[in-house]
Amino acid sequence: MKRDFLSVTDFTADEIRENLELAIEVKAKTKEGKSPNVLNGGAGALIFHKPSLRTRCSFEVGFRQLGGSAVYITDKEIELGKRESIHDVAKVMSRYFAAICIRTFSHDNVVALARHADIPVVNMLTDLLHPCQLMGDMQTILEHKGTIDNLTVTYLGDGNNLTNSWMRMAQRIPMNLRIGTARDTMPSEEILKETQEAGISQVTVLHDPVAAVKDTDVIYTDVWASMGQKDQAGDKAAKLAAFQVNAALVSHAKKDAVVMHCLPAERGREITDEVIDGPQSVVFDEAENRLHAQKAVLIKLLG
Ligand code: CP
Ligand code: NVA
Repeated sequence: MKRDFLSVTDFTADEIRENLELAIEVKAKTKEGKSPNVLNGGAGALIFHKPSLRTRCSFEVGFRQLGGSAVYITDKEIELGKRESIHDVAKVMSRYFAAICIRTFSHDNVVALARHADIPVVNMLTDLLHPCQLMGDMQTILEHKGTIDNLTVTYLGDGNNLTNSWMRMAQRIPMNLRIGTARDTMPSEEILKETQEAGISQVTVLHDPVAAVKDTDVIYTDVWASMGQKDQAGDKAAKLAAFQVNAALVSHAKKDAVVMHCLPAERGREITDEVIDGPQSVVFDEAENRLHAQKAVLIKLLG
């Protein structure tokens, strides 16, 4: 049976752990100029309905390093469900490609695409989730902390697709997940409830940023206004000002805490230059690890 990667919960906890180990191995091999030839000349479809630097480049390079190629497709070629049905798009693409990777607005459309496709579908970001980012982030944590278990992880800022993805990760890997956000910038209530019910991790929402970062191991932030919501930027900035990741706030975390950001960053808004360019920041390791973590996911799916 073909498998998809639409949420980190599509993998079991063991599969996540194995995949992170594989990503670290693939990273080392790539640096020696030895990547596994999984694609054997096959191609990946990269459908983008939103902009991207990291995701587009890391997937294109990743497909090449795995012995294949990638085709970049925009809404000029495919507007899901408009020029033709999602069913027909899925069936046609399944005849050309080894995998379909997609970044779009509606998560439901990606679920429908995966349902109809005969090949693996990978979520490259929807309004709901960004699972590939989380795999690169967990690889980065493993490299810097030597473990992914039982850490305190503080997500600060807008309750968005990254917050939801952290909660989904907390349904698999035990952590003390603290979400520091304003009262009306909360993440998905449904995902929060399912995470609390999963009973793997402790997940707490705090509206006090200092309490949220106190003695934490990982501080994570993201833009306050996501793609498709840029018109709300002023409003979100007013609500989230207290959650800016700056030196004063970071000083409440553990001395060896790492600071993470999926990027792109709006420097001076959700994070200051001093912190993002400072010694605790691992943001460019995260960006690099997207490449290797995604190759590990593709190796798993394409087997
Ligand atoms: N972090 C991330 O997904 O970056 P892009 O939007 O540039 O792909
Ligand atoms: N939350 C951000 C993540 C960008 C990688 C967005 O959806 O725009």
